[in-house]
Amino acid sequence: MLRTILPRQAVLLNQFRTGAMHSRMQMKPHTRLWTSNLIGKRFHGHLHKPKPGEELHVTFILKDGTQKTFEVAEGDSLLDIAQGHNLDMEGACGGSCACSTCHVIVDPEYYDALEEPDDDENDMLDLAYGLTETSRLGCCIKMSKDIDGIRVALPAMTRNVSSTDFE
Ligand code: FES
Repeated sequence: MLRTILPRQAVLLNQFRTGAMHSRMQMKPHTRLWTSNLIGKRFHGHLHKPKPGEELHVTFILKDGTQKTFEVAEGDSLLDIAQGHNLDMEGACGGSCACSTCHVIVDPEYYDALEEPDDDENDMLDLAYGLTETSRLGCCIKMSKDIDGIRVALPAMTRNVSSTDFE
């Protein structure tokens, strides 16, 4: 599915400028995280220990090509996993699907096994640098048996639409 990027970017950027996007985000439960991240606070993921015999696996391909594979628990998000292992994933909005700094590029082999992105995720993806056909947001992907072994690459750059558009 090809994305139409520029018209949606224009609409979203206009929403940021007029405050329409801000009021939408106020309805989200993580507004405080969002606000404190605007002043540069970073949050690290909280990982669960996988139950014996129920370990799932995820591989991150870092910007330098290095691959890191982790045993993880069902339900943990890729953002929490990355931050819990000190990988370079900013997650500026604290995982509330409002910044696109957790952009990942999913191995096409696993892409179709993921649940469809919702409108909020699609809106943020449209503002991500280096968008690809298999781009997703790490905070929106939760580990499950269906995607055990998933491989994702961290893009060379990410864009924090939140802070840049509020400056
Ligand atoms: S952490 Fe901000 S959109 Fe995922």
